[in-house]
Amino acid sequence: MKTLPIVLLASLALAACSPAGDTPAEHSSADRAAGHTSSSAGIPAGRADIGEQLATTKQEATGQACVDCHGPSGTAPIDPSYPIIGGQYHDYIAHSLQMYRDGDRSHALMASQAKGLTDQQIADLAAYFGSQPSPLRDLSGL
Ligand code: HEC
Repeated sequence: MKTLPIVLLASLALAACSPAGDTPAEHSSADRAAGHTSSSAGIPAGRADIGEQLATTKQEATGQACVDCHGPSGTAPIDPSYPIIGGQYHDYIAHSLQMYRDGDRSHALMASQAKGLTDQQIADLAAYFGSQPSPLRDLSGL
């Protein structure tokens, strides 16, 4: 267990030094080989059209769809305490979903939502919500 953080740091350092043309697929196989499951760097490419279907379909286990709580396009949550996810960075969305699924981030509602998701489904959902026009803004230009 003690060597894991070192391996993680080493691979992060390698990733940071990789040439610009490096593809996500290369990171993916390297991460999988190293046993990393909680990094969005390892997820496959996502398809927004498939993600939209997933986001609007009620899951068997929960009887709910993502948009039931996060609103259409993920931009109109049903409660002010629920986050806007439409237009969020897709890799942030993917990483959050992986963390809920793997128990690295805990929340009663979201853990059950993310529980059965595959990496591919997470990538597709992230591609969909990440591509939506959004009220979210970052601090650049302020
Ligand atoms: C029952 C309501 C509900 C449903 C259904 C739901 N969510 Fe959530 N979601 C929440 C709440 C509440 C939070 C805030 C949890 C927290 O504080 O960690 C959240 C958080 C998130 C976050 C983290 C956002 C951030 O800014 O950190 C993501 C990503 C997310 N949800 C995606 C999804 C996706 C994708 C689905 C469908 C598979 C989904 N959610 C279904 C209620 C829901």
